[in-house]
Amino acid sequence: MGWDKKDIFGIEGLTKEELFTILKISKYYKDSMKLKPAKSFTLLQGYTIVNMFFEASTRTRVSFEVAEKRMGAFTINFDVEMSSVKKGETFVDTIKTINAMQVDAIVIRHSDCGIPQLTKKYFSGSVLNAGDGTHEHPTQTLLDLLSMWEHIKCFEDIHVGIVGDILYSRVARSLIIGLKTLGTKVSLIGPPTLLPEYFKDWGVNIYYKLDDIISELDIIYIYRIQKERAELLRPAIPSIGDFAKLYQLNEPRMEKAKKDALIMHPGPAIRDSEVSTAIYDSKRCLALDQVTSGVAVRMALLQLLLKGEINNA
Ligand code: CP
Repeated sequence: MGWDKKDIFGIEGLTKEELFTILKISKYYKDSMKLKPAKSFTLLQGYTIVNMFFEASTRTRVSFEVAEKRMGAFTINFDVEMSSVKKGETFVDTIKTINAMQVDAIVIRHSDCGIPQLTKKYFSGSVLNAGDGTHEHPTQTLLDLLSMWEHIKCFEDIHVGIVGDILYSRVARSLIIGLKTLGTKVSLIGPPTLLPEYFKDWGVNIYYKLDDIISELDIIYIYRIQKERAELLRPAIPSIGDFAKLYQLNEPRMEKAKKDALIMHPGPAIRDSEVSTAIYDSKRCLALDQVTSGVAVRMALLQLLLKGEINNA
C-alpha cells in the first residue's frame, strides 16, 4: 500500500491511520538524527523545493530546509523582500512564475487563510502548508504529536490542556483536530473573549481559569500571545500583560499540577510572559524536543507527498 495525498493543507481530513503512518515514518527519521552527524538520505535527489515564507519564522523555515537537504533535495529560499512582489507582482503571477520553473514542491507560510489551496490552483507540484493565517499549521501539530507519542503510552489515555489565545491560533486549531482524531481528551483554557462557547462543538471542555483544571492535565500546552495579530487581539483582552498574569505557567501554578505533567510550547516563547523562565527551562518542558521532532516530521512528509512511499512506516 502507498500514500496517495500529494499536498498537506491541514490536519483536517487526515484519518487516524494516516496520522499514525506519518508518526511512524517520522520516528524512523528522528532516530536517524541521533547519529553524529545526523544521517542524510538520497530519496529526493533531483527534486527541487521552494520555501516561500511571507511571515517570519525560525523553527518551521529552518527545519523544512534541514529536512529537504537531509532528504537530498535542492532547496531554494524565496526571499519576499528581494522578490518582484515588491515591484507589484501579484501573488498568483508569482506562483505561476515559480510553476514555470518546473519545481516539485512549494512550502508556504502566509498571513492569509487558504493561501496553500490558492497556491495549488496555479502550481502543479506538491504544496505544504507551513501556517496560513489563523487557519492551520499542520506540520506543527504533527511534530507535537510525535513528541507526545514518545512520552506517553496511548493518546486515548491522556488529558491535554491547551492554554491561551485559542480563537486566533492556527496551532491550536490544528492541534485540537489532531488530538480529537486520535481520541484524546482535550480541554481549552483562556479568557471568554478568546474562547467562544462554540468550541464545545469540537468535543472539547472549556475552562476560563487554568487553576480550575491544571491538577487534571497530563500535558499542558501553552501559547505565546500573538503580538503580530494585535489588531485582532486588542478588543479581546485588556492588555497582553494582564493576559499573561492570568494564564502564565509559573512555579506556584505548577505546584498544583500532576508531578509527571509535561509542558509543551510551539515556540517562540516570550519568557516570563506566558511561561516563566524556570518552567520553560525545566526538564519537563518539551519545547526543544518539539523542534527536533519538527525536522523528522517534515522529512517524513516530504517522503510521503513527493514519493508516496510508506516502506519505513
Ligand atoms: N512554531 C513555529 O511555527 O515557530 P516559527 O514561527 O519560528 O516557525
